[in-house]
Amino acid sequence: MKRIFSGAQPTGNIHLGNYLGALRNWVALQHEYESFFCIVNLHAITARQDPKLLAEKTGELARIYIAVGIDPGISTIFVQSDVAAHAELTWVLNCIARMSELERMTQFKDKARKQSENVGVGVFDYPVLMAADILLYQTDLVPVGEDQKQHLELTRDLAIRFNRDYGDTFRVPDAYIPKVGARIMSLSDPAKKMSKSDDDLAGSVMLLDDADNIQRKFKRAVTDSGTEIRFDATRPAITNLLTIFQLLTGQAPDEIESHFAGKGYGQLKQELAEITIEFLRPLREKVESISDKELGTILDQGRQKARGIAQATLETVMARLGISGAKELLVRN
Ligand code: AMP
Ligand code: TRP
Repeated sequence: MKRIFSGAQPTGNIHLGNYLGALRNWVALQHEYESFFCIVNLHAITARQDPKLLAEKTGELARIYIAVGIDPGISTIFVQSDVAAHAELTWVLNCIARMSELERMTQFKDKARKQSENVGVGVFDYPVLMAADILLYQTDLVPVGEDQKQHLELTRDLAIRFNRDYGDTFRVPDAYIPKVGARIMSLSDPAKKMSKSDDDLAGSVMLLDDADNIQRKFKRAVTDSGTEIRFDATRPAITNLLTIFQLLTGQAPDEIESHFAGKGYGQLKQELAEITIEFLRPLREKVESISDKELGTILDQGRQKARGIAQATLETVMARLGISGAKELLVRN
């Protein structure tokens, strides 16, 4: 069975963009692939986090994975920091990665621009840790949103380079980026993607938002000039709302356009708010219904399964590099 690996950061609140661009596809693909879904708390600390909040959010995100439909009976859910091999392989990959290729990463460039000379080394190295996550599991497919495409290309480059220099070690993974929903935009600025780190909270619908909040956010959503409700790349705000509508209802674009023919933006926003509220309603309940004990068991099992596979890859890597450890050096005969 082919393998999937993906993850999300336990920072801020997970939003509709995360769900439609990534988690939704994890749920769908888990039946066809052996799947690993990670809560990437080591990535989270590339920005300053409140320790207590980070711990809370890590548990909450694991619960959200389960609540949206990741089945711990068939998929492995685990916390990145529970598997030390992620940090260990990152070091090795650091030694084959080039400054120039990391400097080209647009996510790094964006963050560096905002923080100028105070940008952390962790922010720079973030894509290498991500490559380690993926390569440790001999992953075939990585379902992510559009914003991770460049990181996936780097991951492939690092795998190919290591394989070339030290012998075939890593499977070279493919990105799985959905045709629809790979880049859900902010409701308050359709030129920006919906983002957890956005200071403007009105732009993102969080999966755990209550009905009033959801209603308010859609009501205030920015629209384009004109009045027609149709999918049109030159009118990004309406197209974004329609894309969310399409993904939540499963209706075809032409069906949606004829449904809204002659209706106004207000109607679209109202219907979209109702659909989203109904869609998210059971989620909070499900999140709250998962006991600490149940979650503890799931994450323990996840850690064990993940460790076994990651360790095997790491040992091969170390052997290939000639740094297998003292035990083997001592056994001379
Ligand atoms: P993060 O929690 O930021 O690490 O993101 C988790 C997943 O959500 C990744 O696969 C991202 O590519 C995806 N994602 C984040 N923001 C969006 C968005 N606005 N639209 C679609 N996918 C997104
Ligand atoms: N960098 C990803 C994001 O911000 C999260 C992530 C970390 C990830 N490691 C990963 C995604 C491995 C896929 C595979 O969205």
